[in-house]
Amino acid sequence: MRGYYIAGNWKMHKTVGEAVDLAGELVKRLARSGHRVMIAPPFTSLQAVGEKVRGTNILLGAQNMASAELGAHTGQISCLMLKDVGVSVVILGHSECRLLDGETNALINAKVKLALLHGLEVILCVGETLAEREAGLVEKIVVEQVEEGLRGVAPDRVGTVTIAYEPVWAIGTGKNATPQDAEAVHAVIRSTVARLYGAKAGEEMLIQYGGSVKPDNAAGLMAMKNIDGALVGGAALSADSFCAIVEFDAYQRAAG
Ligand code: 13P
Repeated sequence: MRGYYIAGNWKMHKTVGEAVDLAGELVKRLARSGHRVMIAPPFTSLQAVGEKVRGTNILLGAQNMASAELGAHTGQISCLMLKDVGVSVVILGHSECRLLDGETNALINAKVKLALLHGLEVILCVGETLAEREAGLVEKIVVEQVEEGLRGVAPDRVGTVTIAYEPVWAIGTGKNATPQDAEAVHAVIRSTVARLYGAKAGEEMLIQYGGSVKPDNAAGLMAMKNIDGALVGGAALSADSFCAIVEFDAYQRAAG
């Protein structure tokens, strides 16, 4: 049983005070959650949010990190600095970093390996653009991103990687992939991991879906065999909607 893993990517939202308030609310409301939960506030709030979530069941995540450990890299944040403030998970290869900041598969792979070397867990994001989907390239792009992102990752480390499938056209647009569309790509990702690392690693890999996940569509997505959780953007910014997604099973029962 893989269990469910729900992560909130707060992107470039929240002052330190707002972030601490939201984290405090989540700590209270999700204390008894049976699912794995992570929140990734902006860098400026990591330390303060880290103090709020320390010793709770909520993991502290970062939204990116540098490909170098230390040194003359103006504007970058090192994995050592992230660990220093209590971060245990880092999101890498988000489409906003790929498309807006020009991050390549090779750069993302260097970050993945560095994060794992330093004992951080990784959420490796993959996903196609609308143009790639319309050109029939979904499988090619996603398989390539998984293969390139994991290149050189040792078999004994791959278990600390989660893959997030985030179709770019579904992010922040309100257009989520149907559970069936997402499931088809998740199955491809799982078989790619199995091909690279063996059947057991494929079976155990957690694969999240991301892209307009909301309380009302979460349970339908989670019901799919190969969908093990969600990477949530906009709906992670309020305690009500994020808690409803984390507790998607209870939310669905209450909604009848
Ligand atoms: P939205 O949930 O706002 O579509 O964002 C998804 C995302 O990019 C999470 O990393």
